[in-house]
Amino acid sequence: MSSLSNKRIILGVTGGIAAYKSAEVVRRLQDQGAEVRVVMTPAAGEFIRPLTMQALSGNPVHTELLDSDAEAGMGHIELARWADLLLIAPASADFMANMVHGRADSLLSAIHLATPAIVAVAPAMNQAMWAHPASLANTATLQERGVHIIGPDAGIQACGDVGPGRMQQPDSIVEAVGKLFKNGQLAGKTVVITAGPTREALDPVRYISNHSSGKMGYALAQAAIEAGAKVRLISGPVDIAAPERCQLTRVVSAEDMLSASLEAAAGADVFIAAAAVADYRASTIEPQKIKKQGDQMTVSLEKNPDIVATVAAANPALFVVGFAAETQDIETYARDKLVRKKLSAIIANDVSRSDVGFNADENEVSWIDADSSKVFSKRSKAQLARDIIEHMVSQHKL
Ligand code: C5P
Repeated sequence: MSSLSNKRIILGVTGGIAAYKSAEVVRRLQDQGAEVRVVMTPAAGEFIRPLTMQALSGNPVHTELLDSDAEAGMGHIELARWADLLLIAPASADFMANMVHGRADSLLSAIHLATPAIVAVAPAMNQAMWAHPASLANTATLQERGVHIIGPDAGIQACGDVGPGRMQQPDSIVEAVGKLFKNGQLAGKTVVITAGPTREALDPVRYISNHSSGKMGYALAQAAIEAGAKVRLISGPVDIAAPERCQLTRVVSAEDMLSASLEAAAGADVFIAAAAVADYRASTIEPQKIKKQGDQMTVSLEKNPDIVATVAAANPALFVVGFAAETQDIETYARDKLVRKKLSAIIANDVSRSDVGFNADENEVSWIDADSSKVFSKRSKAQLARDIIEHMVSQHKL
């Protein structure tokens, strides 16, 4: 199982004989699905060549703080923001002291100061250096600041000494890294989400649509990504930015959304229909702009396909979640939809309230499935999305 799928990791390599093992760490992290960028201190380059790390990671290796070419590509602040985890392996005694003092004299130490990411170090040094009160105090200080210390191992050292100070084996480091991310619940799964409104053209300049903002569907996409899923987001026209790590398909009409959904859902594990699909479309789309014609005008509409029901019927093994926006008898209507559309679960919300639901930043919903229901009290759509994903995975053992 790839427990690090979607995770972005900066592997910081500092100077020490264990640097040769960091090549193996790159491989193991990638095996678990992580995207890895390597940052080396100048001293690390004495032990392993940046070219080796570049070939293994598949990305340019970053070494210089004051390099205008590198800064023009992915600069140190951008790298710091990019990462979910800064893993320093091996971490030398000198580099740990450098971290304690908050120095910014190398690219790696500047990234350490600038990153909002989780920080972990795998110390590697001679046993006497590790046992020195200065190193012990530095380790304790880093721990107090929330830095995770992985290892070190004890045993025979490169210098012939025996004792604690060897860098942990790459496998153990990667296992420890997996535990730092509490949310790998959807690792290895593919989740397809529809979001936003659809637009049904009447003529080249006019359309029928609704006020859906797409916020709930986009928040669910973000939460599924955080949970490690590969996410395909099929979105009608909205004004918000898609999460960075999803595959976005933009559609306009319900018919386009249906074909994109059927294609994406084949082979997926979960389908969440958060889109507010227009129920009807124009029977004919006029090729020219419709002219004003007296005081009354009639437009002939026909029913759009039901996307979520069609996807559920075509993929019996898929876990399918729909939404039900209701103004009264919410649970009764939602249960009826659950059965009629052959859904695995439905998320019901009260759209008669202006503080939640459509276009709002917060929402309050009920999760309803065949044999249970659960109320999620009012909270931000981002938090609600995380809570829904967690409930879905734990309740249904996905
Ligand atoms: O029937 P109703 O529109 O209330 O159902 C809402 C649920 O069905 C939502 O999950 C919505 O995304 C989905 N739906 C759909 N295709 C339609 C209409 C609704 O997928 N044509």
